[in-house]
Order: sequence, then C-alpha cells, then structure tokens
Amino acid sequence: MKETMILKVSDFAFEEKLKIPAKMLAEGKTVAFPTETVYGLGANALDESAISQIYAAKGRPSDNPLIVHIADLEMLEVLVSEIKPYAKALMAAFWPGPIAFIFKKSDRVPTSVTGGLDTVAVRMPDHEVARALIRLSGVPVAAPSANLSGKPSPTLGRFVAEDLFGRVDCIIDGGAVSVGLESTVLDVTGEIPVILRPGKITKEAISEVVGACDVDAATESLSEVTMVAKSPGMKYKHYAPNATLHVYLGDAMGVVKAMYEKTEAAIRANQKVALFVVDEEWCVLEKLFENTLSKADFDKHVVVFSQGSIKALDRYASQLFRDLRDADAHGCDLILARGVEAEGIGKALMNRLIKASEGSVFKI
Ligand code: TXA
Ligand code: MG
Repeated sequence: MKETMILKVSDFAFEEKLKIPAKMLAEGKTVAFPTETVYGLGANALDESAISQIYAAKGRPSDNPLIVHIADLEMLEVLVSEIKPYAKALMAAFWPGPIAFIFKKSDRVPTSVTGGLDTVAVRMPDHEVARALIRLSGVPVAAPSANLSGKPSPTLGRFVAEDLFGRVDCIIDGGAVSVGLESTVLDVTGEIPVILRPGKITKEAISEVVGACDVDAATESLSEVTMVAKSPGMKYKHYAPNATLHVYLGDAMGVVKAMYEKTEAAIRANQKVALFVVDEEWCVLEKLFENTLSKADFDKHVVVFSQGSIKALDRYASQLFRDLRDADAHGCDLILARGVEAEGIGKALMNRLIKASEGSVFKI
C-alpha cells in the first residue's frame, strides 16, 4: 500500500503546485494527471523500475505497451529513431492534441515501455497541467489511462482515486477532462498512416493533411478482442461495466420502441435499468413511460443519462465513461445505450460502445 498524495489544481497558479509531483516523477515515482482525453498514470519512461510500478498499480499485462507523453518536440528526439516526412506534417497539424503516433523507437526507450516491440507510441497532450508537469519533471512520461485494468478510462479525478488510491504516489485532480475518449493511435512507420485506435482526430482530418490514411480492420470489427492484434491493446477486454450493456442502432422510432420494450421487460424482472438517451428520442420515450408506468416504479427502476443531441456527439463522447461508471454505482443490471453513426467523433464513440458491450449491438 502506497501513501497517495492528492493534489487539486485549478486553472491558474498550478505551476508552483506541480513542482512536487514533477520531482516525484523525476525520482521514479508514479503520478496520475489529467490530459484532454482521459487521466493518465505517469512514470519516467526511461526508468525501468518506475515503469514496472505502472503495470503493478493498474494490474495491467506487461505486453500491452504504453504511450509516452512529451511537453515539446525536443523530448521526441530521445525517443525515436526515424520520423517520416508525412509524420512531421501530422505532428505540426495535430500536436499538442488527442493523437498518439507510433514511431520506430530509439535504444533509449526500455522494452518494458513498448511491450517488447521495436516501436514506441508518443503523444504531446493539449492540456496545460499535463505539459507543465512533464516539462518540470524534465523526463518523457509513459502514461496509460489511469484506471484499473478492465475499468473504463477515468474522466474525473475522483474516478482515478476510486481505482488507484493507495496504489500510486500522487493523483493530480484537475477536474473533468474535455474529450473523454482516449487518443487516436496512428502508426506512422509505414508508407501511409494507419489508424490503430479511433479517437477525436479522425481519418478524414488526417487525410486532409497527408492524403491517404488507412484504418486497421480490427478497429471496425465486433470480434476484435479475439483477433491477432497489431496494437496490443486491441486484444484485451476494456471498458466493460458490471451491468450488461446493449447498444441500439437505427431510426429514431425503431430505437425508441426497442428501448421501451426492453426496459419494460427488465422492470417486470425487477431489474434496474440505465438509459443513455439522446434528446430527440427521450422526449418520445418519456411520454411512453409516463403513460404506462407509475412515477414510483419509474424512479425505482430507471436511471436516465441524457447525452444531449444526436447531432452534437461531443457531449456523449465526453460523458460516456463517466456514465458507465455511474450506472454501475447506481447498481444497474442493464444499460441500454443509443448507438451512433460512425462519423466524426461518432466513430470513436461507437468503437468504445462496441467494446464495452462486447459486441451486443442491435440494429433495428
Ligand atoms: O488518450 C490517451 O491516449 C490516454 C492518455 C493518458 O494519454 N492514454 C491511453 O493509454 O489511452 P493506454 O495505455 O490506455 O492505451 C494505449 C494504447 C493501447 O491500445 C496500446 O496497445 C497502444 O496504445 N500502443 C502503445 N504503444 C504501441 C505500439 N508501439 N504499437 C502499437 N500500439 C501501441
Ligand atoms: Mg487504457
């Protein structure tokens, strides 16, 4: 059991506060910190014993490699042995930001960081606290998402504490993250870039900068968990809530009807149901419930998680992991979630919903 220091930081005057955790990182300790995507659990990427503490704290298989976080381009030079010209264009376009690039690694990067691979994932986060922390520590910071292995990535400081208090040296609580889904992972070692994990930076945005961009087939597959994975993270079960999660795709009326019928049946079986609904459909669904259920029954059995408009998916994306955790905290047996079109951020959102539901996606 470690003694975990919790440090709250706000928008101003955080640099002074960050000196303590920055020193911890430099000394080989573990520090969880906010980024714009999700919270990360950091340690000095060049220090093998610091890295082993990350795997131990998360209970993570050690062949699943880590993303190394940098504060500036100078730090990149130490980590990589080759940068393709098109990768430079992508870095200029999207860093700092929610995208990690896979490069050929240098000899300086321990294989414990890369899970034995000869490549390394690197990201410059678009978050002032994260970059100031890395800069002050003076070392590149390896950081997977700051959750216990198998739990959703944390989007609030309190979720990090729930998972990792007593297991890490420090947790920096910087409030809610903005994106809420993990970064796009892009392999830039080949002739053209290949997306290994979809995120906020989309294939279309990448193509606009460099022309061609491929998407690894495993990111689109429902059975990716069992596939031979290019990105080792693909083969592990992730993000699964305790509740059974069903995802509904299709036209509004079809989805409303399916959600209504499933909820009704679950209530009859005395279950508790979480509904991840969009505004356009909730107004119809709510009327159906009002006409058929007493308020007492509804309140006892149903928890509604409003995801905003289906036309503006950023909100749904930023809340998904929080709502999955909160549905579990409410003791829900079943989560019925609105599936979305795989376009823009919807692609990453749907990818996480498919994983969390273990493929229980119903096309209406
Ligand atoms: O948004 C994010 O990327 C967050 C924040 C903290 O930056 N980090 C994060 O790390 O999501 P993690 O460890 O949970 O996910 C890293 C993903 C895994 O799927 C891993 O397999 C993949 O990146 N990855 C890392 N290094 C790789 C490599 N050399 N080749 C292929 N995939 C790699
Ligand atoms: Mg993770």
